[in-house]
Amino acid sequence: MSDQSPTTQTMAGRTVLVTGASDGIGAETARTLAARGATVHVTGRSAEKLRPVAEAVGTEPLIADFAKLDDVRRLAEQVSERVETLDVLLNNAGGTFKPTKRTHDGHEPNFQINHLAPFLLTNLLRPQLAKAGSSLVVNTSSIGNLMGKIVLEDLDYEHRRAIEFPAYGTGKLMNIVFTRGIAQRWSGDGVVSVAVHPGPVGSSFGRDSWLVGLLYRSPLKRFGTISVPDGAAPLIVLAERGPDPEVNGRYFSRFKVDGRENRQAHDPAVIDGLWERSAALVGLS
Ligand SMILES: NC(=O)c1ccc[n+]([C@@H]2O[C@H](COP(=O)([O-])OP(=O)(O)OC[C@H]3O[C@@H](n4cnc5c(N)ncnc54)[C@H](OP(=O)(O)O)[C@@H]3O)[C@@H](O)[C@H]2O)c1
Repeated sequence: MSDQSPTTQTMAGRTVLVTGASDGIGAETARTLAARGATVHVTGRSAEKLRPVAEAVGTEPLIADFAKLDDVRRLAEQVSERVETLDVLLNNAGGTFKPTKRTHDGHEPNFQINHLAPFLLTNLLRPQLAKAGSSLVVNTSSIGNLMGKIVLEDLDYEHRRAIEFPAYGTGKLMNIVFTRGIAQRWSGDGVVSVAVHPGPVGSSFGRDSWLVGLLYRSPLKRFGTISVPDGAAPLIVLAERGPDPEVNGRYFSRFKVDGRENRQAHDPAVIDGLWERSAALVGLS
Protein backbone atom coordinates (compact mmCIF):
# COMPACT_ATOMS: atom_id res chain seq x y z
CA MET A 1 0.00 0.00 0.00
CA SER A 2 1.21 3.51 -0.76
CA ASP A 3 1.74 5.86 2.16
CA GLN A 4 -0.66 8.77 1.60
CA SER A 5 0.19 10.82 4.69
CA PRO A 6 0.80 14.55 4.09
CA THR A 7 4.48 14.17 5.05
CA THR A 8 5.07 12.15 1.88
CA GLN A 9 3.50 14.70 -0.49
CA THR A 10 6.81 14.96 -2.36
CA MET A 11 5.07 15.34 -5.74
CA ALA A 12 2.52 18.01 -4.83
CA GLY A 13 1.92 20.51 -7.61
CA ARG A 14 3.56 18.39 -10.30
CA THR A 15 1.81 17.04 -13.40
CA VAL A 16 2.90 13.63 -14.64
CA LEU A 17 2.03 11.41 -17.62
CA VAL A 18 2.78 7.69 -17.27
CA THR A 19 2.65 5.41 -20.31
CA GLY A 20 2.26 1.67 -19.82
CA ALA A 21 0.25 2.56 -16.72
CA SER A 22 -2.26 -0.28 -17.06
CA ASP A 23 0.06 -2.92 -15.61
CA GLY A 24 3.37 -3.68 -13.93
CA ILE A 25 5.77 -0.98 -12.83
CA GLY A 26 3.87 1.76 -14.72
CA ALA A 27 0.66 1.11 -12.74
CA GLU A 28 2.62 1.00 -9.47
CA THR A 29 4.51 4.21 -10.29
CA ALA A 30 1.31 6.04 -11.27
CA ARG A 31 -0.48 5.06 -8.07
CA THR A 32 2.47 5.98 -5.86
CA LEU A 33 3.13 9.36 -7.50
CA ALA A 34 -0.57 10.24 -7.22
CA ALA A 35 -0.54 9.23 -3.55
CA ARG A 36 2.43 11.57 -3.11
CA GLY A 37 0.46 14.53 -4.44
CA ALA A 38 1.09 14.59 -8.21
CA THR A 39 -1.66 15.02 -10.77
CA VAL A 40 -1.11 11.82 -12.73
CA HIS A 41 -2.47 11.10 -16.20
CA VAL A 42 -2.35 7.47 -17.25
CA THR A 43 -2.30 5.74 -20.60
CA GLY A 44 -2.35 2.08 -21.58
CA ARG A 45 -3.44 -0.25 -24.35
CA SER A 46 -6.10 -2.18 -22.45
CA ALA A 47 -9.11 -0.10 -21.36
CA GLU A 48 -10.19 -2.79 -18.92
CA LYS A 49 -6.83 -2.91 -17.13
CA LEU A 50 -6.32 0.85 -17.16
CA ARG A 51 -9.72 1.69 -15.61
CA PRO A 52 -8.89 0.79 -11.96
CA VAL A 53 -5.55 2.59 -12.18
CA ALA A 54 -7.23 5.73 -13.53
CA GLU A 55 -9.79 5.51 -10.72
CA ALA A 56 -6.98 5.22 -8.16
CA VAL A 57 -5.13 8.28 -9.49
CA GLY A 58 -8.34 10.26 -10.09
CA THR A 59 -8.04 11.14 -13.78
CA GLU A 60 -9.80 9.88 -16.91
CA PRO A 61 -8.00 6.98 -18.65
CA LEU A 62 -6.27 7.61 -21.97
CA ILE A 63 -6.32 4.58 -24.25
CA ALA A 64 -3.70 4.25 -26.98
CA ASP A 65 -2.11 1.33 -28.78
CA PHE A 66 1.51 2.20 -29.57
CA ALA A 67 1.37 -0.21 -32.50
CA LYS A 68 -0.75 2.51 -34.16
CA LEU A 69 0.98 5.86 -34.60
CA ASP A 70 -2.38 7.59 -35.14
CA ASP A 71 -3.33 6.48 -31.61
CA VAL A 72 -0.17 8.19 -30.35
CA ARG A 73 -1.04 11.38 -32.23
CA ARG A 74 -4.55 11.31 -30.74
CA LEU A 75 -3.11 10.68 -27.28
CA ALA A 76 -0.81 13.70 -27.57
CA GLU A 77 -3.80 15.84 -28.62
CA GLN A 78 -5.86 14.62 -25.64
CA VAL A 79 -2.99 15.32 -23.24
CA SER A 80 -2.42 18.80 -24.64
CA GLU A 81 -6.14 19.57 -24.29
CA ARG A 82 -5.92 18.54 -20.62
CA VAL A 83 -2.64 20.05 -19.48
CA GLU A 84 -0.75 23.23 -20.24
CA THR A 85 2.44 22.05 -18.64
CA LEU A 86 3.98 18.65 -18.06
CA ASP A 87 6.57 18.27 -15.31
CA VAL A 88 7.35 14.59 -15.77
CA LEU A 89 6.82 12.28 -18.75
CA LEU A 90 7.43 8.62 -17.92
CA ASN A 91 7.86 6.75 -21.22
CA ASN A 92 7.39 3.30 -19.75
CA ALA A 93 5.14 1.33 -22.14
CA GLY A 94 6.98 -1.46 -23.85
CA GLY A 95 7.80 -5.11 -24.00
CA THR A 96 9.03 -7.94 -26.17
CA PHE A 97 7.18 -8.66 -29.38
CA LYS A 98 7.48 -11.22 -32.15
CA PRO A 99 9.76 -9.49 -34.66
CA THR A 100 8.29 -11.28 -37.67
CA LYS A 101 5.00 -9.43 -37.12
CA ARG A 102 4.36 -5.88 -38.34
CA THR A 103 2.55 -2.99 -36.65
CA HIS A 104 -0.38 -1.14 -38.24
CA ASP A 105 2.18 1.29 -39.63
CA GLY A 106 4.25 -1.53 -41.13
CA HIS A 107 7.15 -1.39 -38.65
CA GLU A 108 8.94 -4.11 -36.70
CA PRO A 109 6.99 -4.05 -33.39
CA ASN A 110 9.95 -3.94 -30.96
CA PHE A 111 11.17 -0.88 -32.84
CA GLN A 112 7.81 0.92 -33.01
CA ILE A 113 6.33 0.12 -29.59
CA ASN A 114 9.53 0.58 -27.58
CA HIS A 115 11.05 3.49 -29.52
CA LEU A 116 9.18 5.09 -32.41
CA ALA A 117 5.87 5.62 -30.60
CA PRO A 118 7.44 7.21 -27.46
CA PHE A 119 9.74 9.25 -29.75
CA LEU A 120 6.64 10.65 -31.48
CA LEU A 121 4.72 11.21 -28.24
CA THR A 122 7.62 13.02 -26.57
CA ASN A 123 8.16 15.26 -29.59
CA LEU A 124 4.45 16.12 -29.75
CA LEU A 125 4.46 16.97 -26.03
CA ARG A 126 7.61 19.09 -26.22
CA PRO A 127 5.61 22.36 -25.91
CA GLN A 128 4.04 21.18 -22.63
CA LEU A 129 7.43 20.00 -21.31
CA ALA A 130 9.07 23.29 -22.29
CA LYS A 131 6.25 25.35 -20.76
CA ALA A 132 6.94 23.76 -17.37
CA GLY A 133 10.21 25.73 -17.32
CA SER A 134 12.08 22.69 -16.17
CA SER A 135 10.84 19.17 -16.78
CA LEU A 136 11.91 15.54 -16.85
CA VAL A 137 11.56 12.71 -19.38
CA VAL A 138 12.23 9.22 -17.99
CA ASN A 139 12.62 6.43 -20.55
CA THR A 140 12.28 2.89 -19.19
CA SER A 141 15.14 1.03 -20.84
CA SER A 142 16.69 -2.32 -19.93
CA ILE A 143 19.92 -4.18 -19.35
CA GLY A 144 18.81 -5.89 -22.57
CA ASN A 145 20.29 -2.82 -24.34
CA LEU A 146 23.59 -4.70 -24.24
CA MET A 147 22.18 -7.25 -26.71
CA GLY A 148 20.89 -4.63 -29.13
CA LYS A 149 22.33 -3.45 -32.42
CA ILE A 150 21.13 -0.36 -34.22
CA VAL A 151 21.52 -0.50 -37.99
CA LEU A 152 20.38 2.90 -39.18
CA GLU A 153 19.79 1.67 -42.73
CA ASP A 154 17.67 -1.25 -41.47
CA LEU A 155 15.66 -0.13 -38.43
CA ASP A 156 12.80 -2.46 -39.41
CA TYR A 157 14.88 -5.63 -39.86
CA GLU A 158 14.06 -5.93 -43.55
CA HIS A 159 17.58 -6.96 -44.55
CA ARG A 160 18.74 -9.01 -41.55
CA ARG A 161 17.28 -11.76 -39.47
CA ALA A 162 15.38 -10.52 -36.43
CA ILE A 163 15.63 -12.63 -33.28
CA GLU A 164 13.20 -11.71 -30.56
CA PHE A 165 15.34 -10.79 -27.55
CA PRO A 166 18.05 -8.93 -29.49
CA ALA A 167 15.28 -7.03 -31.33
CA TYR A 168 13.84 -6.05 -27.93
CA GLY A 169 17.37 -5.12 -26.79
CA THR A 170 17.70 -2.88 -29.83
CA GLY A 171 14.49 -1.06 -28.85
CA LYS A 172 15.81 -0.62 -25.30
CA LEU A 173 19.18 0.62 -26.63
CA MET A 174 17.21 3.16 -28.65
CA ASN A 175 15.64 4.38 -25.38
CA ILE A 176 19.13 5.33 -24.15
CA VAL A 177 20.15 6.83 -27.48
CA PHE A 178 16.91 8.88 -27.57
CA THR A 179 17.55 10.02 -23.98
CA ARG A 180 20.95 11.31 -25.11
CA GLY A 181 19.37 12.98 -28.16
CA ILE A 182 16.90 14.87 -25.94
CA ALA A 183 19.75 15.96 -23.66
CA GLN A 184 21.69 17.30 -26.63
CA ARG A 185 18.77 19.01 -28.34
CA TRP A 186 16.32 20.25 -25.71
CA SER A 187 18.39 21.47 -22.75
CA GLY A 188 17.59 25.05 -23.86
CA ASP A 189 13.94 24.24 -23.07
CA GLY A 190 14.84 23.09 -19.55
CA VAL A 191 14.06 19.46 -20.44
CA VAL A 192 16.20 16.87 -18.66
CA SER A 193 16.09 13.25 -19.78
CA VAL A 194 17.24 10.01 -18.19
CA ALA A 195 16.94 6.32 -19.03
CA VAL A 196 16.55 3.58 -16.43
CA HIS A 197 16.74 -0.20 -16.15
CA PRO A 198 14.21 -1.18 -13.46
CA GLY A 199 15.71 -4.61 -12.76
CA PRO A 200 14.27 -8.04 -13.60
CA VAL A 201 10.69 -7.48 -12.48
CA GLY A 202 8.13 -10.25 -12.01
CA SER A 203 5.40 -8.24 -13.79
CA SER A 204 3.33 -9.24 -16.84
CA PHE A 205 6.50 -8.63 -18.89
CA GLY A 206 6.82 -11.15 -21.71
CA ARG A 207 3.10 -11.76 -22.12
CA ASP A 208 3.32 -10.80 -25.81
CA SER A 209 6.26 -13.14 -26.35
CA TRP A 210 6.16 -16.91 -26.23
CA LEU A 211 9.87 -17.23 -25.42
CA VAL A 212 10.26 -14.48 -22.83
CA GLY A 213 6.85 -15.33 -21.37
CA LEU A 214 8.03 -18.88 -20.83
CA LEU A 215 11.02 -17.66 -18.78
CA TYR A 216 8.96 -15.16 -16.80
CA ARG A 217 6.13 -17.63 -16.13
CA SER A 218 8.29 -20.57 -15.07
CA PRO A 219 8.32 -21.57 -11.37
CA LEU A 220 11.92 -20.31 -11.27
CA LYS A 221 10.60 -16.80 -11.82
CA ARG A 222 10.35 -16.10 -8.11
CA PHE A 223 14.09 -16.74 -7.66
CA GLY A 224 15.18 -14.55 -10.55
CA THR A 225 12.87 -11.56 -10.33
CA ILE A 226 12.08 -8.70 -7.99
CA SER A 227 8.58 -7.52 -7.00
CA VAL A 228 6.63 -4.92 -8.98
CA PRO A 229 6.96 -2.30 -6.16
CA ASP A 230 10.73 -2.92 -6.10
CA GLY A 231 10.87 -2.57 -9.87
CA ALA A 232 8.90 0.68 -9.79
CA ALA A 233 11.07 2.20 -7.05
CA PRO A 234 13.84 3.59 -9.36
CA LEU A 235 11.21 5.31 -11.55
CA ILE A 236 9.56 6.83 -8.49
CA VAL A 237 12.90 8.05 -7.10
CA LEU A 238 13.80 9.65 -10.44
CA ALA A 239 10.39 11.36 -10.72
CA GLU A 240 10.71 12.71 -7.18
CA ARG A 241 14.26 13.92 -7.84
CA GLY A 242 12.91 15.86 -10.84
CA PRO A 243 14.95 17.52 -13.58
CA ASP A 244 18.55 17.45 -12.36
CA PRO A 245 20.91 18.76 -15.10
CA GLU A 246 23.76 16.76 -13.57
CA VAL A 247 22.21 13.49 -14.79
CA ASN A 248 20.89 14.79 -18.11
CA GLY A 249 21.28 12.16 -20.85
CA ARG A 250 22.48 9.44 -18.49
CA TYR A 251 21.39 5.83 -17.96
CA PHE A 252 20.60 4.41 -14.55
CA SER A 253 20.80 0.75 -13.66
CA ARG A 254 18.13 0.85 -11.00
CA PHE A 255 19.40 3.57 -8.60
CA LYS A 256 22.96 3.68 -9.90
CA VAL A 257 23.86 6.25 -12.52
CA ASP A 258 25.95 5.17 -15.54
CA GLY A 259 24.88 1.55 -15.79
CA ARG A 260 26.42 -0.81 -18.34
CA GLU A 261 25.66 0.37 -21.83
CA ASN A 262 26.04 -0.86 -25.35
CA ARG A 263 28.97 0.85 -27.15
CA GLN A 264 26.54 2.37 -29.65
CA ALA A 265 24.87 4.39 -26.88
CA HIS A 266 27.76 6.89 -27.04
CA ASP A 267 28.19 7.03 -30.82
CA PRO A 268 27.27 10.56 -32.04
CA ALA A 269 26.45 9.23 -35.52
CA VAL A 270 23.93 6.79 -33.99
CA ILE A 271 22.46 9.42 -31.66
CA ASP A 272 21.92 11.90 -34.51
CA GLY A 273 21.09 9.29 -37.12
CA LEU A 274 18.39 7.61 -35.04
CA TRP A 275 16.79 10.99 -34.27
CA GLU A 276 16.77 12.10 -37.91
CA ARG A 277 15.45 8.80 -39.24
CA SER A 278 12.80 8.47 -36.54
CA ALA A 279 11.63 12.03 -37.19
CA ALA A 280 11.33 11.29 -40.91
CA LEU A 281 9.42 8.05 -40.27
CA VAL A 282 6.78 9.76 -38.10
CA GLY A 283 6.52 12.83 -40.33
CA LEU A 284 8.22 15.33 -38.01
CA SER A 285 10.92 16.49 -40.41
N1 LIG B 1 9.89 -6.64 -16.24
C1 LIG B 1 11.19 -6.59 -16.49
O1 LIG B 1 11.95 -7.49 -16.11
C2 LIG B 1 11.77 -5.42 -17.24
C3 LIG B 1 13.18 -5.30 -17.31
C4 LIG B 1 13.71 -4.22 -17.99
C5 LIG B 1 12.88 -3.29 -18.58
N2 LIG B 1 11.53 -3.44 -18.52
C6 LIG B 1 10.69 -2.42 -19.18
O2 LIG B 1 9.79 -1.88 -18.22
C7 LIG B 1 8.64 -1.36 -18.88
C8 LIG B 1 7.39 -1.81 -18.14
O3 LIG B 1 7.35 -3.22 -18.16
P1 LIG B 1 6.64 -4.11 -17.02
O4 LIG B 1 7.69 -5.00 -16.49
O5 LIG B 1 5.84 -3.26 -16.12
O6 LIG B 1 5.71 -5.00 -17.98
P2 LIG B 1 4.12 -5.17 -18.08
O7 LIG B 1 3.54 -5.52 -16.77
O8 LIG B 1 3.96 -6.10 -19.23
O9 LIG B 1 3.60 -3.71 -18.50
C9 LIG B 1 3.83 -3.20 -19.78
C10 LIG B 1 2.99 -1.97 -20.02
O10 LIG B 1 3.25 -1.51 -21.37
C11 LIG B 1 2.01 -1.42 -22.05
N3 LIG B 1 2.11 -1.75 -23.47
C12 LIG B 1 2.61 -2.87 -24.03
N4 LIG B 1 2.42 -2.85 -25.36
C13 LIG B 1 1.74 -1.70 -25.63
C14 LIG B 1 1.23 -1.13 -26.81
N5 LIG B 1 1.31 -1.74 -28.01
N6 LIG B 1 0.61 0.08 -26.72
C15 LIG B 1 0.49 0.70 -25.54
N7 LIG B 1 0.95 0.21 -24.38
C16 LIG B 1 1.56 -1.00 -24.43
C17 LIG B 1 1.10 -2.41 -21.38
O11 LIG B 1 -0.25 -2.04 -21.67
P3 LIG B 1 -1.48 -3.08 -21.55
O12 LIG B 1 -1.30 -3.78 -20.23
O13 LIG B 1 -2.68 -2.17 -21.54
O14 LIG B 1 -1.41 -4.00 -22.69
C18 LIG B 1 1.51 -2.24 -19.93
O15 LIG B 1 0.85 -1.16 -19.33
C19 LIG B 1 8.72 -1.86 -20.32
O16 LIG B 1 9.18 -0.82 -21.15
C20 LIG B 1 9.77 -2.97 -20.26
O17 LIG B 1 10.44 -3.13 -21.48
C21 LIG B 1 10.95 -4.48 -17.84
